[in-house]
Amino acid sequence: MEELVALCKRRGFIFQSNEIYGGLQGLYDYGPLGVELKNNIKQSWWRSMVYDRDDIEGLDASILTNPKVLKHSGHEDTFSDPMVDCRSCKARWREDHIESSKCPSCGSEDMTEPRPFNLMFKTSLGPIDDGSSFAYLRPETAQQIFTNFKNVLDSTSKKLPFGIVQIGKAFRNEITPRNFIFRVREFEQMELEFFVKPGEDEHWHKTWLENRLDWWEKQGIDRENLEIYDVPQEELAHYSKSTLDIMYKFPHGTEELEGIANRTDFDLGSHSKNQSELNISSNTQENTDSNAKLAVQDIETKEWVVPYVIEPSAGVDRGFLAILNEAYSKEVLEDGKERVVLSFKPHLSPIKAAIIPLKRNNEELVELAKNIKNSLQALQLGRVVVENSGNIGKSYRRHDEIGTPLCITVDFESLEDGTVTVRDRDSMEQQRMASSDLAEYFKNYLIF
Ligand code: GLY
Repeated sequence: MEELVALCKRRGFIFQSNEIYGGLQGLYDYGPLGVELKNNIKQSWWRSMVYDRDDIEGLDASILTNPKVLKHSGHEDTFSDPMVDCRSCKARWREDHIESSKCPSCGSEDMTEPRPFNLMFKTSLGPIDDGSSFAYLRPETAQQIFTNFKNVLDSTSKKLPFGIVQIGKAFRNEITPRNFIFRVREFEQMELEFFVKPGEDEHWHKTWLENRLDWWEKQGIDRENLEIYDVPQEELAHYSKSTLDIMYKFPHGTEELEGIANRTDFDLGSHSKNQSELNISSNTQENTDSNAKLAVQDIETKEWVVPYVIEPSAGVDRGFLAILNEAYSKEVLEDGKERVVLSFKPHLSPIKAAIIPLKRNNEELVELAKNIKNSLQALQLGRVVVENSGNIGKSYRRHDEIGTPLCITVDFESLEDGTVTVRDRDSMEQQRMASSDLAEYFKNYLIF
């Protein structure tokens, strides 16, 4: 983990948040390369969910959430972790994160009994901060998908089964944030709520597990490093009938990368108005605050049905860490030098190609490099840069270390015959190619 953290800082993937003021625990900022990698992960997920299929629509809802939503979702009552205090040094810990009954800070055994600590952040709304008007920062993106269920259904005429996805920030006041970007207080989720007919939920639960495993493999995660954890009843979230976690062998241990929950009709039912009046039924209690009827009418029977929900919920930051860890390797070359490489799948690489003039600041070479950059950039397959540092060996090492799949060197021969050298990051093989063939080569290399 230390090597990854150091690489992230050195090359501009991830910085500690608010660092110049001593930082703020559990928060990180994504730098110039980090934001590219993060965007590429999100884009790949969105493409597989929305563009590659016809049964899923997207949403981008507000972060600030009406407390009634989180009251009826069950989060006000149950979204908590067990907290213990050390009576000796006053440190606070999440009970299930400490190995013995001793305080990890001072070793004292004088600890309080565990008590629930609600993880939701609150903020006041408007100019008067007297506690009467507040909102929560959403603890999951899912709830605003449920509250928009009717809006999306009515505006798209979708039929069951169909899904709604959202990517966005969520917030949890973790008692002990830790393990770099694995457990943080502000993070991003990629969530799908897939609505199905009751009775078809278990089939779709299995289908989505396979789909998601396949997607992670396409992002470069070796199947050998993934495990499935069938969450036992006593560990299930309050809304879940069954949850299958995709676990990854992170540098700090095997932990959840994505949870796939069968949320039944819990959420749509919880947010629906007095159900007997609306002639619908679900497994949850009646809601006296909302006016909604979050149900669909069966075309044949005309009966109203509250759909069941299968929810694949992935953490962007955890995905980032897994993809980074999987791509990272250090090797010793024949000449004894060390090479650090991030072997990202090309569609995820922050920079897709670096165009390197052999001689720094040589006007003709730089101009040719810029022309090649512009022509490849125009294909809109990701970021292409001109690397005008003048030292070919150093440029290759830098781009290996940030995961750039292709380096294209222009030299004096290029000026005469229009050929360039293309170097592949993984094999380090170089080939001479006509610059007029580059666009086709680049497209074939990158189209995913
Ligand atoms: N929506 C599931 C979760 O946030 O854990």
